[in-house]
Amino acid sequence: MQVRFEVNGREVEVAVEPRLTLADCLRHHLRLTGTHVGCEHGVCGACTLLLDGKAVRSCLILAVQAEGSKIVTVEGLSNDEGLTPLQASFRRHHALQCGFCTPGIITTAHALLTAEPDCDADRVREVLSGNLCRCTGYVSIVEAVLDARAAYKSGAS
Ligand code: FES
Ligand code: FES
Repeated sequence: MQVRFEVNGREVEVAVEPRLTLADCLRHHLRLTGTHVGCEHGVCGACTLLLDGKAVRSCLILAVQAEGSKIVTVEGLSNDEGLTPLQASFRRHHALQCGFCTPGIITTAHALLTAEPDCDADRVREVLSGNLCRCTGYVSIVEAVLDARAAYKSGAS
């Protein structure tokens, strides 16, 4: 089937099997490999992306269901000028090790900080509870997200 959607500001059209997940479509058809695939059944959060502004798990969505939508992947949350405030905060707080979970966590955190730039540590922990990290523990991740709030409040994100 042909499916059309926008990804990171670019209109794309892809021929896919109806059973293909959105995560695999992005990775294998569009070479957007920043979206990681871990559990493939909605538990780990590694495949999180923004679909029409909402953080969703792309392993649970079929590519054909994305018809007409606007998608932002972790690549779309980066720029060529340097680290974004959220990325810089993760680096400053040593909030990653192997990095496998990081795209999903950055994407979830970006959605949270965009909607709730005044969120507190409990709220960050609640929202990130759907993103599993096997390396770092969560203290540094939560600190990094909290530290990035100022950029979202000031519009510098
Ligand atoms: S790969 Fe999608 S939630 Fe784990
Ligand atoms: S940094 Fe390795 S899984 Fe999170």
